[in-house]
Amino acid sequence: MVEISEVKAASATTTAATAGSAITRESRTAAHTHIKGLGLDEYGIAKKVDGGFVGQTEAREACGVVVDLIKSKKMSGKAILLAGGPGTGKTALALAISQELGPKVPFCPIVGSELYSAEVKKTEALMENFRRAIGLRIKETKEVYEGEVIEITPEEAENPLGGYGKTINHVIVGLKTSKGTKSLKLDPSIYESIQKERVAVGDVVYVEANTGSVKRVGRSDAYATEFDLEAEEYVPLPKGDVHKKKEIVQDVTLHDLDLANAKPQGGQDILSMMGQLLKPRKTEITEKLRTEVNKVVSKYIDQGVAELVPGVLFIDEVNMLDIECFTFLNRALESTIAPIVILASNRGMTTVRGTDDVKSPHGLPADLIDRLLIVKTLPYDHEEIKTIVMKRSKTEGLILSSGALDKLASIAMGTSLRYVLQLLSPAGVLAKIGARSEISVGDIEECQLLFLDARRSTKVLEDTKGYL
Ligand SMILES: Nc1ncnc2c1ncn2[C@@H]1O[C@H](COP(=O)(O)OP(=O)(O)OP(=O)(O)O)[C@@H](O)[C@H]1O
Ligand SMILES: [Mg+2]
Repeated sequence: MVEISEVKAASATTTAATAGSAITRESRTAAHTHIKGLGLDEYGIAKKVDGGFVGQTEAREACGVVVDLIKSKKMSGKAILLAGGPGTGKTALALAISQELGPKVPFCPIVGSELYSAEVKKTEALMENFRRAIGLRIKETKEVYEGEVIEITPEEAENPLGGYGKTINHVIVGLKTSKGTKSLKLDPSIYESIQKERVAVGDVVYVEANTGSVKRVGRSDAYATEFDLEAEEYVPLPKGDVHKKKEIVQDVTLHDLDLANAKPQGGQDILSMMGQLLKPRKTEITEKLRTEVNKVVSKYIDQGVAELVPGVLFIDEVNMLDIECFTFLNRALESTIAPIVILASNRGMTTVRGTDDVKSPHGLPADLIDRLLIVKTLPYDHEEIKTIVMKRSKTEGLILSSGALDKLASIAMGTSLRYVLQLLSPAGVLAKIGARSEISVGDIEECQLLFLDARRSTKVLEDTKGYL
């Protein structure tokens, strides 16, 4: 049980903890750092070069429609397939979709081959990722203490058990709103969560009266000019009383709820903590537990306490899945709570994995293809490749001579865009060694000799009869 009591007279000492940093979403690979969104105008029309994208306008516009459908919640249970050759921007498009959706919509990216692990069944891993992609927005009215932190003072006492060291008896936290200030005397357990949330003087926080959990809302406006380099979220000084009822919105995924309910509930004492350190207990999420969680979730939804936010499950290189996974996908898409599934495949007609000899387009079985909206990505022309390479070299801080740029574009036409983009950084190194600020045609040619593309590498193997 936690203890919160209000203190009448505020003490003067303040202790500042380390400043918290805002959590931002990281993109999964640095290969796409130049992609900032789909680059569409207000009518959903793609500008030739925008959002980090070059060309591929039809696919970008189609993805824009998908984003609109997801936002208006008309898309759940449907699936999209991005189909096109290697390096035509399928992964980049999926990332752009997630950027357009914003951080409030769950986006769970996986690669087909991730599902193969010795420990977890493939379909089980798929199910888990399905649930990571379904969000729940829970609204609750709670009794809270909210304000800008003006003081954090832990009050120590001699260790009651004797010996050295002191224990923290309680912590005094001063909170300020536009209406006034209040000092709270808080339980030591709350001090721990204050440290965990990295709360410092000048932050706006609220403490839940019932549970004592502390939530950092952001940094107070008054400090806005202090660290303007930091990616901080600044919030205004809360209005009204410090002690009040507040509507709290929490975004969780179904997987979060599964996990929270599967964790063995232990006490906070040292012994059980040691126990956890010594033998980490595996959390087991069973089908039964999921059904229970679903029941509670639908009850919340019926009561209007929670709202379902179907997010996106992106399965890259989907041709790596086998027939068992595809069957699962088919069934899972029919469930009443399903996310939007986006698949990507760079295969043409190939054998479906796990079957003897079922050939199918994109390596997907026919009954799954039937359910998909297919967005195709086309190969780039010489000019488009030049623009993409230019963009990429800017992101990497490299300067290309115009000859080198042309050379790279021609190589890309014969090999792939990805190969050329990969040549950029080694070419940058060569130019640096030669004390040149610009990458020259020679640097590119040398890199081409040093690093093979897939086709030449295959040829070497054929010519030398493999490694025999
Ligand atoms: N239209 C574009 N504009 C700008 N950059 C692009 C565009 N298309 C692709 N790229 C960049 O080219 C590289 C290769 O693209 P990407 O990885 O998205 O291809 P892919 O279609 O997923 O290929 P694969 O099938 O091999 O997975 C990435 O660095 C990507 O950011
Ligand atoms: Mg890809």
